[in-house]
Amino acid sequence: MAGNWKMYKSAAETSAFFEKFSPLVAQASHADVAICPTFVNIPAAVEAAKSTAIGIGAQDVFWLKEGAYTGEVSAPMLTGVGCKYVIIGHSERRQYFHETDETVFKKTVAALDVGLTPIVCVGEKLEEREADATEAVIGAQFAGGLGGLTPEQFSRVVIAYEPIWAIGTGKTATPEMAAAAHQFIRSEVRDKFGVNAAAACRILYGGSVKPDNVKGLMAQEDIDGALVGGASLEPTSFAAIVNF
Ligand code: PGA
Repeated sequence: MAGNWKMYKSAAETSAFFEKFSPLVAQASHADVAICPTFVNIPAAVEAAKSTAIGIGAQDVFWLKEGAYTGEVSAPMLTGVGCKYVIIGHSERRQYFHETDETVFKKTVAALDVGLTPIVCVGEKLEEREADATEAVIGAQFAGGLGGLTPEQFSRVVIAYEPIWAIGTGKTATPEMAAAAHQFIRSEVRDKFGVNAAAACRILYGGSVKPDNVKGLMAQEDIDGALVGGASLEPTSFAAIVNF
């Protein structure tokens, strides 16, 4: 269960969130819980979560270790401040910051090289779904972003299926729609990496997950968890999702 805070919360608000949230999920042994704040608030989050099982993640990473790349943050820098996870290829990064399947692949390899768990996002736009191109789009994102990994590398990746039309819109995919996409992704994993990899692979659903719809989504066999934006900003609502 991962929270993507996007460009929200100050350092003080980050610490205040954990004060309320940590005790609410202290018994949540059924799930790995992660919070992904902005880069600058990662140290505050790591500090606030240090005696808990909550893992902290970043929302992006650059693929080189260091160099003259103004504004970028490398994977070793993230592990250096205590990050465990990193979201890669979120649709907002693809849409506004020219993220491509090729950069997703390079970033995923860089994250895996230092032991970070990448949460790699795929998902179709509304017009692609309406044109019946959902599987073609997510199949190409999977092949380009993850298909070049070794089986060992792939075994450490988490995939997030996020239909773009459901992100921040209040329009969730129905559990059946989400499950169909997850089944398709799992079949792509099976074709590329084998049955065991397909069974073991964790695929999260993202897009307007809320306390009142999480149960239906999680009841689907192929949905292993959730990547949550808006509803992860408030401690009681994200705790309700974690403890569905
Ligand atoms: P949302 O965002 O839950 O606010 O729709 C999900 C995401 O972008 O990861």
